[in-house]
Amino acid sequence: MGLIVVSNREPYAPRRNEDGTLTWVPSIGGLTAALDPALQQAGGTWIAWGEERADIRAVDLPQEEPRYRLERLRLSEAEVRDFYHGFSNRALWPMSHYFIERAKYQGSGWRAYVNVNRRFAEAAVRSYREGDLIWVHDYQLALVPRLIREALPEARIGFFWHIPWPSSEVFRTLPWDREVLDGILGADLIGMHTPEYVGHFLSACRRALNAETGEGEVRWKDRVSRVVDRPIGIEVETFEQLAASPEVEEAADRLRRTLQTQILLGVDRLDYTKGIPERLEAFDTFLDRHPEARGRVTLVQIAVPSRERVESYRQLRTQVEGLVGRINGKHTEGGWAPIQYIYRGVGREELVAHYRAADVMLVTPLRDGLNLVAKEFTACSADGVLVLSRFAGAADELPEAVQVNPYSPERVADHLLGALNMPLEEKKARLERLRARLHESDLHAWANGFVRELAGE
Ligand code: ADP
Ligand code: F6P
Repeated sequence: MGLIVVSNREPYAPRRNEDGTLTWVPSIGGLTAALDPALQQAGGTWIAWGEERADIRAVDLPQEEPRYRLERLRLSEAEVRDFYHGFSNRALWPMSHYFIERAKYQGSGWRAYVNVNRRFAEAAVRSYREGDLIWVHDYQLALVPRLIREALPEARIGFFWHIPWPSSEVFRTLPWDREVLDGILGADLIGMHTPEYVGHFLSACRRALNAETGEGEVRWKDRVSRVVDRPIGIEVETFEQLAASPEVEEAADRLRRTLQTQILLGVDRLDYTKGIPERLEAFDTFLDRHPEARGRVTLVQIAVPSRERVESYRQLRTQVEGLVGRINGKHTEGGWAPIQYIYRGVGREELVAHYRAADVMLVTPLRDGLNLVAKEFTACSADGVLVLSRFAGAADELPEAVQVNPYSPERVADHLLGALNMPLEEKKARLERLRARLHESDLHAWANGFVRELAGE
């Protein structure tokens, strides 16, 4: 029995070195961060969009020790524009995160979405051997389960939706609500991060399709799909070990020595769902209210570029850069600047060193399917405080975090003061309880559990 994973984003992208050789660089984002280690353990085939150098059709990864085969689908310029930047990221993404005023529902995007979903499904069907399990991922590929089901009625098909599933009031603004639901219901097992998302999904099935639903299941077209909440975990031990390694300790020390202040940290894809401008405003409010904190605390914001061909992402970049400039201009004094802004992805070691050095981690999305950064910080920190938005899917699992409403910069500023001044014992006690929760269900338990449920074990 083999495993076939299907996702839009590929786990590694090829980059040409100066000597002409290729290096496969890990992609940044929650989905690939979670699935790559899972597939390295299980082995199998991963089908994804080959964004760079699409002439390379298949490769064994990771290169030093091939553990699985990556099949790379080539998309045309028009498909990338209308399917990826268009329907996926201008319609489904904003709608699912409750930003309906940003959603553009265009027929051309929908048609491209249907065609590209068909191409992914055909690739999965070509790879399939009897007894294989097929696991399709995320909002870019919602029609794939149904399309595979039509070709392979007996196949075991799983689907995981990595982003929020919104209230059916919001979901039904989508002109193709029925088609998307029907597509997903081609799967035997459907996973989401929280019980709320599952509840919203079941309600959408009832209201848009008039389908019969029961406790965690939907009956549709003479089949029953199970719908379960299974929040993704991280490789807790790998992060813990890396965080405690001498190289990371040294890098974290260097960072502390360079800044010479308490450190607040933000790590995100540059996405309007992540609440970065609101976070910067909260910090500005904090400095206004507590002038004595000037020179004593620095916000390090690491933002990796994302989806830059979508207008709202370009606008966000301009907005964030403007805010950083304004806030630094207002508060900088005596060689200290309040915000260090890093506009790029950083490598794993550097990332973990930042987690380790941070006094307070600010994870304040306006809406987030789960948020792995919150879990990664928890695994890496020795005595830091996690400030977490109540609108991140991970909030239910991490109740000992300082939970905030990111829509209120003033309230967040209040919580910042509390977090920066939290007694060491309380910080350690909270982290210990949070860390215990991470160990209860780590990444491998999540992936193996889902695959076993899909196999009917
Ligand atoms: P999303 O899936 O929306 O990107 P998550 O927080 O779930 O959000 O996952 C983001 C993943 O990308 C995490 O594994 C995190 O470590 C990584 N990441 C995010 N921003 C950066 C960055 N600036 N540099 C390096 N890695 C990043
Ligand atoms: O985790 C949610 C998600 O949308 C994934 O589907 C995606 O791979 C990741 O965020 C990063 O986005 P993108 O693939 O558009 O760069």
